[in-house]
Amino acid sequence: MPETEHRVLIVDDEPVIRKLLARILERAGFSVVVAANGIEALDQLRHDASLRLVISDLRMPECGGLELIRRATGEFKRDFEFILLTGDGEKADAVSAMRMGVREFLDKPVERADLEEAIEAAQNRLSERDRERERIRKLELENVSQSKTLDDITRKLGGAEQEMVDRLSLISQYRDIETAEHCVRVGLYSQLLAEMSGLDQQTQRIIRLAGILHDIGKVGVPDEVLLKEGPLTDSEFAVMKRHTEIGYAMLSSSDNPILEQAAIIARHHHEKWEGTGYCTGLSGKEIPVVARIVSLADVYDALRSSRRYKPPFSHLEAVDIITRGDGRTVPEMFDPTLLGLFFEHHSRFESIFNSMPDQLV
Ligand SMILES: [Fe+2]
Ligand SMILES: [Fe+2]
Repeated sequence: MPETEHRVLIVDDEPVIRKLLARILERAGFSVVVAANGIEALDQLRHDASLRLVISDLRMPECGGLELIRRATGEFKRDFEFILLTGDGEKADAVSAMRMGVREFLDKPVERADLEEAIEAAQNRLSERDRERERIRKLELENVSQSKTLDDITRKLGGAEQEMVDRLSLISQYRDIETAEHCVRVGLYSQLLAEMSGLDQQTQRIIRLAGILHDIGKVGVPDEVLLKEGPLTDSEFAVMKRHTEIGYAMLSSSDNPILEQAAIIARHHHEKWEGTGYCTGLSGKEIPVVARIVSLADVYDALRSSRRYKPPFSHLEAVDIITRGDGRTVPEMFDPTLLGLFFEHHSRFESIFNSMPDQLV
C-alpha cells in the first residue's frame, strides 16, 4: 500500500468500465468517487478539495478528458495527477495530454496490474511534491508564500543580509525587469542545485541570496532595449548583454561574501559550458560553479514564466527543452553534472515553481 492515502476520482462515460475500475481500486484499499463525464468530474472536484488523483477516459460526451484537465488545472489551484485511459488512434490526444503534464496513460482494456502501477506512481509523485513543498515552507518560506509583494517578503524574513538582498532586488522591480518571485525562485533552485552538488550549507545559503540578484545589472540597460516588445536587433542585444558587466560593477569590491558571490553570478550567469556565452566566453569549469548553477536555474524559470516575447511553457516542456534542446537552448550550454542532477530531480524544481507563483504584474 502506498504511504499516503489519496482518494481517486474515476471519470468514464461507460458504466461498466467505471464499475470495473472502482472495484479494482476499492479492493486495493482506495476510496473512490465516480463521474460520467468531464462536467460531472468538475463538480466532484469543486465539492471535494482533497481530490487530486483523477483517472479519466479521453473521449466522453459533453466534456472529454483533455477538456477536463484543461478546465480543472485552470479553475483549481490544486496539485493534480491525471491518469488517462487511451484507445487506438488517440496518439495525438496523448501528446497534447503530455504537454499538459499528464504522465500516466493506460491502454484500454485496462489491466489490473497496470492500473495499480500507474496509481502508485502518481501517488508517489503527489507525495514527493507534498514533501518538497513542506520542506520549502519550513526551510525558507515561513510566512513568505502568503506574501503579495516583495516588501512583505522582506519584512517577514528579517535578517540584515536578507533585507539587503531584497532591497537591492527591489530596484529591479521598479524598472520592470523581472518579477520578485522569479528572482526568489532562481535563488531557491540554485540553493537546491548547490545542495545536490554537495556544496556546504554556508555556500547553499549564500547562493540562494546571491542568486536573487543575478539580473540586477539590467537597471543600467536603457528602456528602449529593456522594455522593447519583440526581438532585439544585434546592436540592441549587444546593449542588453552589458547587464552582466553592469551588475558586476555594482556588486563587486565588497567584503561581504554574499555581494562577492552575487558579483560573480551577475557577471557569469550567461556563460555557456561550451564557451559561446557572454560576457567573457569562459568555458567548462573555468566558469565559477555558482554561475553555472544560477544559469541553469535562471533558464528553467525563464522557460516556465511568461515574458513579453513568449508564453510560459509547462514543466515537462521546460525539462524537454533543457535536456534535449529546441535550437535556442541546447543541453551543451550547461554543466553536464548539474544537468544530470536537474534531470534526476526535476520534479523538485516544479515544486518550487508551484510553491511561489508570480503575483506581481
Ligand atoms: Fe541575465
Ligand atoms: Fe533571470
